[in-house]
Amino acid sequence: MTARIIGIGAYAPEQVVTNQDLTKFLDTNDAWIRERTGIGARHVSTSEGTSALATEAAKRAIADAGISPEEIEIVIVATSSPDRAFPSAAADVQGAIGAKHAVAFDITAACSGFIYALHIVQGFIQAGIYKTALIIGAETLSKVLDWTDRSSCILFGDGAGAAVVRADETGVVKTLVGSDGTKNDVLYCQARSLENCLTGGKPELGFMQMDGQEVFKFAVKKVPEIVNAILEETGTDREAVQHYLLHQANIRILEAASRRLKVPMDKIPVNIERYGNTSAASIPILLDEMHRDGRLKRGDTLVMAGFGAGLTWGAALMTW
Ligand code: COA
Repeated sequence: MTARIIGIGAYAPEQVVTNQDLTKFLDTNDAWIRERTGIGARHVSTSEGTSALATEAAKRAIADAGISPEEIEIVIVATSSPDRAFPSAAADVQGAIGAKHAVAFDITAACSGFIYALHIVQGFIQAGIYKTALIIGAETLSKVLDWTDRSSCILFGDGAGAAVVRADETGVVKTLVGSDGTKNDVLYCQARSLENCLTGGKPELGFMQMDGQEVFKFAVKKVPEIVNAILEETGTDREAVQHYLLHQANIRILEAASRRLKVPMDKIPVNIERYGNTSAASIPILLDEMHRDGRLKRGDTLVMAGFGAGLTWGAALMTW
């Protein structure tokens, strides 16, 4: 048995912030952002938190799968921007959708989170522990961005994507994930500090910090590396893959991957222009768009690949 995605859904908050909007408070311009990143706009949440976005995406995925929430045995939310330190966003979703037989927990693997979640449920399904899972990538990174730092805040957006996954004969062929914690300082966000009345300080919350060029170098090397590895380990020809769904971080990273992999851009779908980088949500949002507009056909072979803070990376090869 393996994991098969049987339903997919996505949700982004209503408010759209264009590059032009950013110029009202930031020394930047639309041409620079488009040229260096491919981003034209992003969704920014003004009222809904991560759990609310995750819940809406989950409801859509469950409707698409045509199952009852009570059939779900495990809910995993991949997020780096939960509303609260605890309980988990997954517990919020479980309660809101009525998945009353499910165990629920969050994972943090930054932009690789959705692939990590798929990797985890694949293991549970192969072991025969669970048959039906709900995995969600959801973020409101807008609240941890330093909106005065033009080299990072322009990149990210809020949103959520969810998938119902069920044990089946076909589906995921292989997942491949990895981490390098020695590079934990190139992209990070400090949580609440240790300061309190005993240490004599005031608790503080940090903002995202990023060494953009280091992340860029890592991504252009790692994405082709893991895609090649998963093709090789599954004995799959690159031409046999219909779509390469790569984490939407920067159009230049996608184009570099296209060149290095010798895969044409028409096999690498792009929606970063409208969403920016939605971190753990980016791959399921893209999957949802492609499912709804008919680009995905049952039986297609897909490769998905993500990378992000940690550093983390992950890829999956599956039959749709
Ligand atoms: N608008 C206008 N100018 C900007 C700008 C902005 N938003 N951000 C930076 N600049 C300026 C810089 O100040 C610099 O000016 P200078 O030459 O006068 O010093 C110049 O543009 C070039 O900056 P640089 O940092 O070298 O640009 P870059 O080509 O490396 O692009 C990123 C910066 C962040 C877009 C790019 O490094 C990147 O995308 N990295 C990967 C980040 C990522 O994907 N993170 C998430 C991973 S999951």
